[in-house]
Parts: sequence; C-alpha cells; structure tokens
Amino acid sequence: MRKKIIVITGSPRKAGNSFALTDAFIQAAQEKGHFVTRFDAAFMNVGGCHACETCYQTGEPCSFHDDFNRIAPAILEADTVVFSMPVYWYSIPAQIKAVIDKLFSFVVGGKDIAGKECALLACCEEEDMSVMDGVRIPIERMAALNKWKMVGEVLIPGVLHIGDIDKTEGCKKAAALAEKI
Ligand SMILES: Cc1cc2nc3c(=O)[nH]c(=O)nc-3n(C[C@H](O)[C@H](O)[C@H](O)COP(=O)(O)O)c2cc1C
Repeated sequence: MRKKIIVITGSPRKAGNSFALTDAFIQAAQEKGHFVTRFDAAFMNVGGCHACETCYQTGEPCSFHDDFNRIAPAILEADTVVFSMPVYWYSIPAQIKAVIDKLFSFVVGGKDIAGKECALLACCEEEDMSVMDGVRIPIERMAALNKWKMVGEVLIPGVLHIGDIDKTEGCKKAAALAEKI
C-alpha cells in the first residue's frame, strides 16, 4: 500500500546527522512508492503552545497563525508520522517540541487522529543509550495517547560532529525502517 508519510525534523544542521538519517529514510520510502512530505521545523516559525484552547475556532488549527498551520493538515492526512531529531540536553530540541506541543490542537479541536503509524529517528553524542530516553519516552507516550502505533525507532548514539553518522549503521537502519512501512 502506498502511504502518505509526513516527516518532521528538529535539527538546525542541514548537513547534520539526523538530516542524514532523514534523507536515507525518505529516499527508501519514496523508492517504495510512498508519498513523503517533509517539514524542517528548525527552518519554520512555530511558537510554543499558548494553551488558549481556541484551536480550530478561527478555522485554523492554531489561533496564533504560525507555521504549525501548514504542518497540521499534513498530519491529519498522513498514514505515518515520523519524527527525526538530535538529543538536546537529554530532551527534545525546542524547534520540534513546539510542533509536538501543538498536536494538542487536534485534541482540543476534536480531530480524529487515531490509527496512524509513528516512527522516530534520533541521534546523540553520548554512547549511553539511556540518553535517548528523553526523546524516546515522550514520543512513545505521545503516540500511545494519540492511539498511534509505533512502527520503528532508529536511535544512533555516539555521533557528535557533522558526518559522524557515516561511521555508523544509522542510515542503513533508517532505510530499513522505511522498507518496513
Ligand atoms: C544544544 C545542544 C544540546 C545537546 N545535548 C546533548 C545531550 O544532552 N546528550 C548528547 O548525547 N548529545 C547532545 N548534543 C549533541 C547532539 O545530539 C549531536 O551532536 C547530534 O549528532 C546532533 O545531530 P544533528 O547533526 O542532526 O544536529 C547536543 C547538541 C546541542 C547543539
């Protein structure tokens, strides 16, 4: 089945490690015939959730009219939602966290987003896999709350500088994940 996949990235490094994972994933997904839409949150204007709970009341997902309103329709349409990011301070980078926080608009706006697939691509400098917990656990719990099925995670530790990812199996694993979808 040809699926609609949305990929949301969180790194500001265009040639960086998580973008390399993202590119490998997208290339394999497109080769499989899936339709991929990509949003690079670090190069968009998405502010934090104001918790105003007026989502969709103006006709727009977020009443504060930022770029989340471009991302939201693609999420609603998607079969699969993929998040790709580095670990920042044992957690999710602010750029993509703002997008994740604004997923709340679907809850407030009464949108049915259940039944999607979700996947995670992530990397970090340290070798200790527990460093990934600050990214992995929130994504897994967010997916569970949204009734999304986690279909795969590619978590690559030990990469700091641009290009370090090439010394790992990361891109191969990201492509293999796309094969599974
Ligand atoms: C602001 C900032 C915070 C970071 N915090 C962590 C961290 O807590 N743990 C870790 O292992 N790496 C940390 N890193 C390193 C990045 O996760 C690592 O360099 C990663 O490969 C960057 O991915 P990118 O090239 O896709 O941006 C941090 C990097 C930055 C810029």
